Amino acid sequence: MQFGKIIIDWYQYHQRDLPWRKTTDPYVIWLSEVILQQTRVEQGMPYFHRFLAHYPTVADFAKADEGEILKDWQGLGYYSRARNMHFTAKLVMQEYAGEFPKSYCELIKLKGVGEYTAAAIASFSNNEAKAVVDGNVFRLLSRYFGMDVPINSTKGKKLFFELANELIIPEQAGLYNQAVMEFGALQCKPQNPNCANCPLMLSCEAYKTNQVANLPVKLKKLKIRERYFNYFVLSQDSSVLLCKRGPQDIWQNLYEFPLLESTKLLTPDEIVLDDGFIQLFGKQVTFKSLHGPVKHLLTHQRLYAQFFELEINPKNINLEENWQWIDKNELENFAKPKLIFDFLVNFFKLN
Ligand code: ADE
Repeated sequence: MQFGKIIIDWYQYHQRDLPWRKTTDPYVIWLSEVILQQTRVEQGMPYFHRFLAHYPTVADFAKADEGEILKDWQGLGYYSRARNMHFTAKLVMQEYAGEFPKSYCELIKLKGVGEYTAAAIASFSNNEAKAVVDGNVFRLLSRYFGMDVPINSTKGKKLFFELANELIIPEQAGLYNQAVMEFGALQCKPQNPNCANCPLMLSCEAYKTNQVANLPVKLKKLKIRERYFNYFVLSQDSSVLLCKRGPQDIWQNLYEFPLLESTKLLTPDEIVLDDGFIQLFGKQVTFKSLHGPVKHLLTHQRLYAQFFELEINPKNINLEENWQWIDKNELENFAKPKLIFDFLVNFFKLN
């Protein structure tokens, strides 16, 4: 039996009951796919329901306030994705009269929609025969066909995309695509794949040659940048001082505490002597450590964050232009990076 047919048969029995599989609305599929690029299915589910409840149509999404969208996105990370989504929703209203595109060649033009997402939306909403190639599919194909070309090399990507598009069953493109991804996610898993009970076992090249654990091959990632964030927590009555991040860096437009960034981990004694600190708060300021250092991982960065409580009269602080006193009851209305949100949950009992 053919590869695709075996996988579709397997899928009919083993598929999970997932809400975004019950629709052919390209807008809803777009929401689910962008969320699922950021997180796993179980963690993505509440976000999917929240976005659909808050923005049932692309028109609702387009007219929403960006701060609200960022707040709903909070915890998923990579906030440029949420901003790209807002941009795209507005563009769909203007350029496509509010009708979310379904064809691959229109979808691929949208900001934040890459080859994978365009293929997913086009095939799930309109059965267009474009293969999805996500991590699950790379893994499944590299093992089944015994391909050791690195999946993140230019040559590897080309080969895997070509192969995937030859394998797709055109009359059942959407079903086939869901099925290969599900097969990779549940059966041909990264660790402990279920080879002993696999319908492809007899024809799987990696299984035959005992290479399952060695595939797929991936080139080593770029060097991770290490950054040290020293945050200063200042309270006054029922307010706390927050700072809005600017452009050209992580977490654009999200709120955090006043920050001193350093190139190494600083002790409190080093911080008080730091020029940047003196510029912000002056000399002879004392403070106590509240939390940290905590490690926070981003795609290409490793952050080490420490939180300090400053013992300074708030009246003596010169507010920078992006600083703002915010009432503790209002904190939840401001979008924050997960690092800051978690701190607030622990130290301000925010929820
Ligand atoms: N991961 C990304 N897209 C998915 C989908 N449509 N179903 C299940 N997992 C996914």
